[in-house]
Amino acid sequence: TPGIPDIVSAEFNADPYSAYRIMRDEAPLIWHEPMQSYIVSRYEDVQRAFKDGVFTTANYDWQLEPVHGRTILQLSGREHATRRALVAPAFRGGELRDKFRPVIERNARELIDTFREDGSVDLVSQFATHFPINVIVDMLGLDKSDHDRFHKWYTSIIAFLGNLTQDPDVAADGLRTREEFAAYMIPIIRERRENPGDDLLSTLCQAEIDGTSMSDDDIKAFCSLLLAAGGETTDKALAAMFANLLSHPDQLEAVRQDRSLIPKAFAETLRHSPPVHMIMRQPAEDVVFSGGEVPAGSTVTCLIGAANRDPEHYADPDAFNVFREEIDASTAFTAAAGHLAFALGRHFCVGALLAETEVEVAANMLLDAMPDARLADRYSAQEQGVFTRGPADVPVEFTPRSA
Ligand code: HEM
Repeated sequence: TPGIPDIVSAEFNADPYSAYRIMRDEAPLIWHEPMQSYIVSRYEDVQRAFKDGVFTTANYDWQLEPVHGRTILQLSGREHATRRALVAPAFRGGELRDKFRPVIERNARELIDTFREDGSVDLVSQFATHFPINVIVDMLGLDKSDHDRFHKWYTSIIAFLGNLTQDPDVAADGLRTREEFAAYMIPIIRERRENPGDDLLSTLCQAEIDGTSMSDDDIKAFCSLLLAAGGETTDKALAAMFANLLSHPDQLEAVRQDRSLIPKAFAETLRHSPPVHMIMRQPAEDVVFSGGEVPAGSTVTCLIGAANRDPEHYADPDAFNVFREEIDASTAFTAAAGHLAFALGRHFCVGALLAETEVEVAANMLLDAMPDARLADRYSAQEQGVFTRGPADVPVEFTPRSA
């Protein structure tokens, strides 16, 4: 479409928000030939594609299957509902509070201890890219001494998923990771079935509804998805929240003084700088969006990053404002929060409360460890990524507390 840089171009990557503005205003429905997909960008259209039962995610197969196998995200209808019912209880309030909060606290503390006395840190490379992975590995009851392997697999999976230019080396590496991950996980899954413990992996092995349970492959695929869906997203959200707060020292100070504002800062970050910028849906019938009709069976790319800044829905949408009224922090991890970053409807993020708990714990500890945190001069203020997006770096300077 004239005037809109292509999604795979460097220009788009440098500033997707300008392109989103033109799309929302002038081209709310686009056909993108290379992606073989329609693209929608207005809040009401993206919301519709998430909530209307006529849409499924079935067309994820080509993207997710090669690296993860068959995950919950590729399922629809009754099969999805059953799988969701099998996994969701492990991510609800009671379970999280009782079992996993101490795990989250321990992992945040361990990482902060690596830079606590340094007076400077890059929150992306030294904290955010490690923390959610460490938490998931620990929750699953896997050996944390394998951390480097998990981090390598995680990096390989997200590179594969974000490989818009079809780089063959990246693709080959992703496929290798699938083999390595399966060879590592399957024996452990079998062992946990024999000797269950108090960990998430054992819970998944034991989960059963009306005689249905998950196979070893199902569980392996879910764990692989957790690395990507639970790792990259929380990683980018945490980094973006600190980048946003540190760039607005008055808001940072307000949050520092009143820690009950952390969920609000998180929710506003998810609106303003969502980690997942686009996800796909497929309608089972012909549907009408702003700008025209989309035939049954087509792929529709939903631009969360554009919808979350739709001026029809949010006042002054490009401003980061912890105090904005449209965002409800008391429900930051539910569909009612007021943004689309966790999607809506049947595939609404199963890990939203976990993400919120991780961010709340980490933010509190980081604020305590770095009482006068400020952005270092070398801060690049750059974001990276098209499907998923986050700050390239968040270099911070602070006076060590022990000093
Ligand atoms: C689904 C975003 C954290 C696990 C989703 C979806 C989005 C999303 C947009 C819907 C995908 C689609 O419909 O195509 C996020 C964001 C996070 C986050 C922004 C952090 C800020 C997590 C965490 C976990 C997790 C921590 C678990 C460890 C999942 C799973 C699904 C999902 C398993 C699939 C649910 C289903 O298909 O029913 N997430 N996520 N996510 N997320 Fe998250």
